[in-house]
Amino acid sequence: MEQQILLSDIAADTLRGLSANPKYLLSKYFYDDTGSSIFQDIMQMPEYYLTGCEFGIFTLHKQQIAESFHEGVPGFDLIELGSGDGLKTKILLQQLVSKAINFNFYPVDISLKANNELVESLQRELPFLHVEAKTGDYFHEIKKLNGYSGLRKVILFLGSNIGNFSDIEINLFLGQLSAVCHQGDKVFIGFDLKKSPDVIMKAYSDPHGHTRRFNLNHLSRLNRELKADFQLSNFEHHADYDPVSGFTKSFLISTKEQTVHIAALEQSFHFAKWEPIFMELSRKFDLGTIENLSEKHGFVVEKNYSDPWNYFVDSLWVRE
Ligand code: AVJ
Repeated sequence: MEQQILLSDIAADTLRGLSANPKYLLSKYFYDDTGSSIFQDIMQMPEYYLTGCEFGIFTLHKQQIAESFHEGVPGFDLIELGSGDGLKTKILLQQLVSKAINFNFYPVDISLKANNELVESLQRELPFLHVEAKTGDYFHEIKKLNGYSGLRKVILFLGSNIGNFSDIEINLFLGQLSAVCHQGDKVFIGFDLKKSPDVIMKAYSDPHGHTRRFNLNHLSRLNRELKADFQLSNFEHHADYDPVSGFTKSFLISTKEQTVHIAALEQSFHFAKWEPIFMELSRKFDLGTIENLSEKHGFVVEKNYSDPWNYFVDSLWVRE
């Protein structure tokens, strides 16, 4: 049943995206099991500075972060949206467990495989941790957060996942987050910051072929799940960065005129030679924008945790 609902979502979204001009696909569909594992390869690249920066922030500030999560309350619910392999979060979990701080951990991810691997590894590494994973789209899962225990909520949204959202989606997301938070609840959001375009381009312009594979895997997924006939070799990956808006965009470009049939949609889609499919937005922020976003949605910035290069910030907000 669950599987059918997901399939019809991807079918409807793909139909909408490939019928639009310009064409686009939604980045949430990158993360099937294969895509989640290719993203792990991306995170391993030295050029993909985001993961290393955030890992460093957590390592350096775990004590203060853990204290701010539980200060003033006997316990809390720690909810992570888009937990993936949980590598960074584990630093924090270890810190909280080692201080015998009372909390429950609820990782939410769209990939069941990523969830299962995370829970398994946590049971091994932190056997006394109370953990309960949820599989699903985090827009759906946020709405259910009201039904939790009534403890303080601390919601993690790391890795600059928020960079994938359009303006409308950011406001929708933060509005929903704000609506499920009570006064004193906290959110901890990772934002990738504007910096030298050279540094950004090296992270996204595919120095090792992983980003190309990541994007093409989306088409493989459509071939498999929607019975499409994309020829992967007829598309090339392209990234670009606009230093004014901070938008980093990824595209797959059709290298020839071609028609792709998608059996599940009973429809064909025409691609002109060099026509792009917009695959992903990875927006870069500045501190002023982050502060404005927090205020607009009823939060105050408690503290910005940054790396020594100021490439990345984990911003801790409190609900007013
Ligand atoms: C997981 C959305 C944070 O946008 O940097 C990495 C995904 N795409 N390389 C990002 C991604 C291409 C990543 N996020």
